[in-house]
Amino acid sequence: MSGPNTDYDPVEVSTLKPDEVDAARDAALAAIADAADLEALKQVRIDHTGDRSPLALANREIGALPPQARKEAGQRVGQARGAVSKALAERQAVLEAEHEERMLVEETVDVTLPTDRVPAGARHPLTTGSELIADIFVAMGWEVAEGPVIEAEWLNFDALNLGPDHPARTMQDTFWTDPADDAMVLRTHTSPVQARTMLTRTPPIYVVCPGRVFRTDEYDATHSPVFHQVEGLAIDEGISMAHLKGTLDHFATAMFGEGITTRFRPSYFPFTEPSAEVDLVCFVCRGAQEIDGVTCRTCRGEGWIEWGGCGVVNPRVLRACGVDSDRYSGFAFGMGIDRTLMFRHSIADLRDLFEGDVRFTTAFGSDL
Ligand code: PHE
Repeated sequence: MSGPNTDYDPVEVSTLKPDEVDAARDAALAAIADAADLEALKQVRIDHTGDRSPLALANREIGALPPQARKEAGQRVGQARGAVSKALAERQAVLEAEHEERMLVEETVDVTLPTDRVPAGARHPLTTGSELIADIFVAMGWEVAEGPVIEAEWLNFDALNLGPDHPARTMQDTFWTDPADDAMVLRTHTSPVQARTMLTRTPPIYVVCPGRVFRTDEYDATHSPVFHQVEGLAIDEGISMAHLKGTLDHFATAMFGEGITTRFRPSYFPFTEPSAEVDLVCFVCRGAQEIDGVTCRTCRGEGWIEWGGCGVVNPRVLRACGVDSDRYSGFAFGMGIDRTLMFRHSIADLRDLFEGDVRFTTAFGSDL
């Protein structure tokens, strides 16, 4: 058995040589100073203070030294380790502050930027306007009916008392589809929806039919080959012109506000008898015909604006659509939705309603 090695020479423990300790410390300090960010500093900490770092190894060697050598080596290694951890702590503080600073800059919120880069669209005024009109009638217990835009000639004309040679056919210049033998048209009004309703339902019937209609009109500020109508049909026992008037007065008030006056003028439609045109008092001059001595431009000095057609349903139409004309009577009306919106919003040019400019839609389409 060998005894303790009393003549152990500490100089031989190379990791504890002053030069080695200083070199390890300086390498650590240089690496700390070089660490560009917290991530790099973390690696430096592992490399230079971790279990396998030169200074940790040196520290472990101290215990193996003879007592007289321990103190000096202990101080040397202790000082080196102290210097490294101090440098680490300082560098950590500096890098943390830098990181924070950078986050503040990078995550700055520019409150002046638009909140939404994809601006919300708006529903078209014709859509919201048609819905508003439908709502007014639904609130009175009516229903909404729809039909096809490509319609049978018979439903668009014949069922409504416009026979093949009826002169009134020329009132509505029609787009015919090919081949002509099919006898199909782009509907010239929404009245065929009323005919369809009468053919499939039994009275009482209270329906409004909003929709697109087509006529061979030139496209200008007040005409378009495609426009929108809302027609109404009421069929019940004892229906008279008085019910028609009351209904349209309510419709006008709901659309244009209290105090709007309507006027009925005798007119002619093949599907109604008697027939009338309904006018609204001019919403600009309110019937005064002039403003400050100047002729009102909106109604051209008439004091009234034409709104639509109406009348008591011709019994021939009732019979053609299978309704007992001895028991039931009805009224019908038809208004241009585009026109109605032009009055309601003072839109000067009908084309604005069709051209799809989102700036127009946003202004009118979101509020109705
Ligand atoms: N259908 C007619 C048109 O388009 C309007 C109308 C409907 C007239 C109902 C009277 C009754 O001109």
